Amino acid sequence: MALSRALFLFSLIVTIFSTMAMAKDFVVGDKNGWTLGVDYQTWAANKVFRVGDTLTFNYVAGKDSLVRVNGSDFQSCSVPLTAPVSSTGRNTILLTTTGRRWYISGFANHCKSGQKLVITVLPQQQDAWWSPVPSPSASPLPSSTPAPEAAPPSNAPWAAASVPRRSLLQKKLFQIFNRNMIAV
Ligand SMILES: *[C@@H]1O[C@H](CO)[C@@H](O)[C@H](O)[C@H]1NC(C)=O
Repeated sequence: MALSRALFLFSLIVTIFSTMAMAKDFVVGDKNGWTLGVDYQTWAANKVFRVGDTLTFNYVAGKDSLVRVNGSDFQSCSVPLTAPVSSTGRNTILLTTTGRRWYISGFANHCKSGQKLVITVLPQQQDAWWSPVPSPSASPLPSSTPAPEAAPPSNAPWAAASVPRRSLLQKKLFQIFNRNMIAV
């Protein structure tokens, strides 16, 4: 009984952790935006891009553009006729697949002057560190059981009995955590 409560509490913690691993929005070049004179590889160097994150390119509409190209067109700064080009001034791109993505400016000689960005998109960071634990969602908390966090009224006759049960719960939870950390 204490174990199923521990599993419920554990699944609650896992849910909180997984919602914390939320998608990020990267503003390319930060305050500088998408423009000449910014080293975008330096900007990208210490960042981790994952599926589900977004890239936002800010630039002056009509005075710059954004083109997604492949690796060879990135090297040569060529804009193929079929390439997706945007010059609206702001583009937010959802990273939907893993792997490399190449972006260049299609405006004048901006790409040749260095306005280009290549990133590598990694898989979504999920289900990795807690996957060895069997799914606790299969055993829902019985409705008669109070939530583990709820403090019992101090004068309730069963209040004293609930203290050792609670410390057992904590011990069990600690064991589960410990086992899981070692398994990773
Ligand atoms: C990149 O795209 C161009 C046309 O847009 C194509 O000719 C070229 O073969 C492609 N290169 C690679 C490595 O896919």
